[in-house]
Amino acid sequence: MTPDERRGALEQIAAEVGACTACRLHEGRTRAVPGEGDPETEVVFVGEGPGSNEDREGRPFIGRAGGLLERMLGSIGWRRQDVFIANVVKCRPPENRDPEQDEIDACAPFLRRQLEVLDPAVVVTLGRFSMGAFRPGARIGAVHGTTASVDPASGAAHALTLSMYHPAYALRNPAVERECFDDMAKVPDVLVRSRERRAAAGAAAPTATMTTAPVSAASAAPAVVVAPVTASTAAADQAVGDAPQLTLF
Ligand code: URA
Repeated sequence: MTPDERRGALEQIAAEVGACTACRLHEGRTRAVPGEGDPETEVVFVGEGPGSNEDREGRPFIGRAGGLLERMLGSIGWRRQDVFIANVVKCRPPENRDPEQDEIDACAPFLRRQLEVLDPAVVVTLGRFSMGAFRPGARIGAVHGTTASVDPASGAAHALTLSMYHPAYALRNPAVERECFDDMAKVPDVLVRSRERRAAAGAAAPTATMTTAPVSAASAAPAVVVAPVTASTAAADQAVGDAPQLTLF
């Protein structure tokens, strides 16, 4: 698939999400939240479902949980526009309640199709509902920070999945927040491992490659991402700067 085809396919899915009436969640939505990011990325983050900020703006993870997600990405030298961010359900559950199984099932084809188009090397799940889509039956307290291969039926046929706690949970619990930073620090190594598996399986090489170099202590501090500081991340930043910037899907 060419970059133009990939972008077009993601836009098509986003248009369908915006018009979807397959479950009751469409009744209360202001805007659907299909997901956004770099169509050529190697890494997809999957959250649970939009909250009130996301519902208003039609963009994922733009509230406090999103701020923490961005700080965690910054700790490994990445920015949110370097990855793709999606959710298990694309419309806000009322009162921010948990999504119900029939709502997750109704929305699942959208995430599956997004993953087929993106063909990521790594799927990072944020929270138990997202984890459940890739590791059915697993308990997040037991498996966070660990990886598993992904069932090709999920759409991510050549990916490893890494499970993390949801950033909103981490915001309420400093010990969990520390574990989230530790788990995020594993993502570059998981990406390297997944690239090797993909190459061995003959899967398509990515057109955009993410930096996996360790980030210096200064830039690893959990603070707002400003600019990568190591030579390799700066080079990658330049490369990203040359690519199409933040894309809304
Ligand atoms: N929480 C999620 O799971 N997804 C969002 O997009 C925002 C908050």
